[in-house]
Amino acid sequence: MKNFEFHNPTKIIFGKGQVENIGRKAAEYGQNVLLTYGGGSIKKFGLYDEVISLLEKEDLNIFELGGIQSNPRLSKVIEGVKICEENNIDIILAVGGGSTIDASKAISVGYYHDGDLWKMIKNDGDFEKNLPLGTILTLAATGSEMNGNAVITNWNKKEKKAIHEAKYPDFSILDPTNTYTVPRKHTVFGIVDIASHVFEQYFSHTKSSYLVDSWAEDILKNLIKKSSVVLSSPENYEARADIMLASTMAFNGIIGMGKEEDWASHAIEHAVSAVYDIPHGAGLSIIFPNWMRYVLASGEEKFAQYGIEVFDIDPQGKTDKDIALEAIDETRNWFDRMDAPATLDYYDISRDDLDLMADKAVEDGKIGNYKKLDKNDVLKILKMSYN
Ligand code: NZQ
Ligand code: ZN
Repeated sequence: MKNFEFHNPTKIIFGKGQVENIGRKAAEYGQNVLLTYGGGSIKKFGLYDEVISLLEKEDLNIFELGGIQSNPRLSKVIEGVKICEENNIDIILAVGGGSTIDASKAISVGYYHDGDLWKMIKNDGDFEKNLPLGTILTLAATGSEMNGNAVITNWNKKEKKAIHEAKYPDFSILDPTNTYTVPRKHTVFGIVDIASHVFEQYFSHTKSSYLVDSWAEDILKNLIKKSSVVLSSPENYEARADIMLASTMAFNGIIGMGKEEDWASHAIEHAVSAVYDIPHGAGLSIIFPNWMRYVLASGEEKFAQYGIEVFDIDPQGKTDKDIALEAIDETRNWFDRMDAPATLDYYDISRDDLDLMADKAVEDGKIGNYKKLDKNDVLKILKMSYN
């Protein structure tokens, strides 16, 4: 295990009915609230009205930024910063999935940035000052509710970039019942995203502690078990709660403790969705099993451990490579059982664009650590991702 520091300042307020605290919590930061949300799902399932009435009860002034789309756009961030400047916003309240939360984080730090916001995002630098941010999570997926990252798309340039350690939410309200209405496909994409966050940290050459590895394995085992429950019973509270907690724990720093992490598959997916605007979890479902096959020769033992611990593969009479290949097939089978996309054909992604996407993935140099990937490696993984 490598030496590490760990600090995560986000307060988690978890459970059924916890939204009722929102007015009181927001009022702690001041009078003017910017409520941010996506394409309107929160209006359909009643959360919007509930939040508005709780904020009104505290006599707060409410300003709104709705219509934040998936793969949130820089243009919305700019719009949000302007609202904050014109109205002396005291706290941003993001109600939605990762896209709404990420856009809100970028607004929070963008508010204190003079100059070009896209440059700020691309430089991924110095985010010392920020506006307070609270979130009410409605989709278990990204972990944005308890990490400092935000991923923003500049659609004019077809670029998608992440800022890191930029703004941890000051608090996040996680009520699993707010995820009951998530459409099946987004529930699945969320589960694949959570699993992928575990993979990015688990597949590492760092000799990690048994404890950190077993946390990661437990998150995956829980996800595999509970995914079939939520897909057949979307309103099963315990299953939704476990998946929500898995989302938060998979990407809040805990399972990355003392490890060198990978993140190549995420870099490849971000390059694909920058050009084709596909859902993040869907892209990962296509790419991750192919990344696994591609990098396997760089360390079969860890993949064998994954197979034995997560899928209960009997190692008797098998080599590490046999077990590893079986584990990768099990991963694909799990994604297939959930009807998660398996190939780039699913989104009609043209082979003519592979070169462009590979260039974007390695724009800042080689990616990943399990095996360091250059453009040629990325191209090979993308080519493996067709029928
Ligand atoms: O926009 P609305 O109407 O709210 O609908 C959303 C959207 O269509 C819908 N939805 C969310 N909660 C719902 C619901 N529909 C019904 N009932 C509910 N309770 O679900 C759709 C997807 O929402 P979105 O927020 O886009 O999904 P997700 O949470 O997967 O976020 C994806 C974005 O996060 C980035 C991705 O790249 C992508 O841009 N990521 C952010 C990370 C981070 N901040 O740490 C890490 C991730 O790896 C990822 O890159
Ligand atoms: Zn992700």
